[in-house]
Amino acid sequence: MEKINLDWANIGFGYHQTAKRYVANYKDGAWDEGGLTDDANITMSECACVLQYAQTCFEGLKAYTAENGSIVAFRPDLNAERMANTAARLEMPVFPKERFLEAVDQVVLANEAYVPPYGSGATLYLRPFMFGIGPVIGVAPATEYQFRTFATPVGPYFKGGAKPIVIRVSDLDRAAPRGTGDIKAGLNYAMSLRNIVEAHDAGYAENMYLDPQSRTKVEETGGANFIFVTKDGKVVTPKSNSILPSITRRSLVALAKDYLGLEVEEREVYLDEVPDFAECGLCGTAAVISPVGKIDDHGKEICFPSGMEKMGEITQKLYDTLTGMQMGRIEAPEGWIRVIKE
Ligand code: PLP
Ligand code: COI
Repeated sequence: MEKINLDWANIGFGYHQTAKRYVANYKDGAWDEGGLTDDANITMSECACVLQYAQTCFEGLKAYTAENGSIVAFRPDLNAERMANTAARLEMPVFPKERFLEAVDQVVLANEAYVPPYGSGATLYLRPFMFGIGPVIGVAPATEYQFRTFATPVGPYFKGGAKPIVIRVSDLDRAAPRGTGDIKAGLNYAMSLRNIVEAHDAGYAENMYLDPQSRTKVEETGGANFIFVTKDGKVVTPKSNSILPSITRRSLVALAKDYLGLEVEEREVYLDEVPDFAECGLCGTAAVISPVGKIDDHGKEICFPSGMEKMGEITQKLYDTLTGMQMGRIEAPEGWIRVIKE
């Protein structure tokens, strides 16, 4: 299959419209059969629930060209499950898992020309999303919904690729106690926009959010979970019921234990103990593992011994193992890789 002409190594993380996307509509209590369309635009009522009350959620996953030339996705079943949990919390209907996986396959196959080649440094980012399209004016869930999945080729989420980034401790909260921090609702991102603009304007790549109740514990950033490494080589990752259950983080925890023989602690992590860690990284589909070199806590700098030039040693091992599995260089645990095209 001939690929489109893109400078894969330099595309960054942006929207590049591709040929086809998948659409299904929910009405009268049932999903229609759905299918692919060329139309990247959506027409809806001015009173659609998504426009008035932000009833929308999304997922993010990637398709990769593996070393052997096949096209694969990484654990898309977990994205389907997380979207089902999100939908339930937002009073939306669930888009069935098998249909979610089928939509992913169809969109990847229909946009094969946009799947970046193996070794190019780019991947095909998939964005399944769902929103209340039916009109409501009193506060209530919609009765009609649309599920879509589009694809866009992407490069690294943070400029500079695998170069360590600098982040700051945020004064604003991302999630309310007992709120929606653990689901992938659009509203969580809307409320972070001012904070990310201010962080970027001040020269930081991201915000470190603290727990909304006590503001003493590390939660996550606007788009990724944290992993830390202790000076004696243990992997530590924050546990909280107001962070997004990252599929990347859950995978790293498993491969750190089972493939790298590392000790892993999933526990509450206090901001006070962060200066004692040797390495820090942000993990997520978009972020992969992006090393953090420095955290600015209101003028007090936390500088990790791994420095500003390269990833820490253990972070690098985690990165190599994870991306090795995604690109087919390392055999992944059973069920982690969905082959979309042999
Ligand atoms: N945390 C937030 C707030 C996110 O938006 C994401 C991205 O999906 C993640 C963490 C990482 O999750 P995953 O590894 O499933 O992509
Ligand atoms: C992802 O990693 O897929 C996300 O949804 C994070 C977003 C900030 C791009």
